[in-house]
Amino acid sequence: MDKHELRILLLTGILLGTFLFAVLYAANKKNIDVPACIPYSGAFKEPHIRPLDKNTYEVFCVAKMWAFEPSEITIPAGSEVDFYLTSTDVVHGFHIAKKDVNMMAVYGGINKTTVKFNEPGVYKIICHEYCGAGHQNMMAEVIVNRKPINTNQ
Ligand code: CUA
Repeated sequence: MDKHELRILLLTGILLGTFLFAVLYAANKKNIDVPACIPYSGAFKEPHIRPLDKNTYEVFCVAKMWAFEPSEITIPAGSEVDFYLTSTDVVHGFHIAKKDVNMMAVYGGINKTTVKFNEPGVYKIICHEYCGAGHQNMMAEVIVNRKPINTNQ
């Protein structure tokens, strides 16, 4: 074997090892949450927000040309939200500004991720996958309100 071929092979091996190490390190040590992919079921019919308790919500979000439904999600600060996401047509993106959320909405499939909203504010959800003529207008909002003042003394 030529010595240059050997060098290329060695370099490829080192790069591959580094890449594998980086992926495993991110998944195990940094607790990077990989969105789950759930088989499509009849339970996911209409877009809706379902409170499980006063700080936990499920959002069943449908992406379609060119909107997200529901388009406005209002929750109190400190809430944890499970987003279930699907599409009724083409592939759409689902990015929540200021949060590490980067999901795809895929026809016939459901992706799920969990996000905690501690800080009050408005978090834009945008489609970051080109999906046609109205792509740039495809957005929604998560409105995180301050916690209500507890008046029960
Ligand atoms: Cu939906 Cu771009």
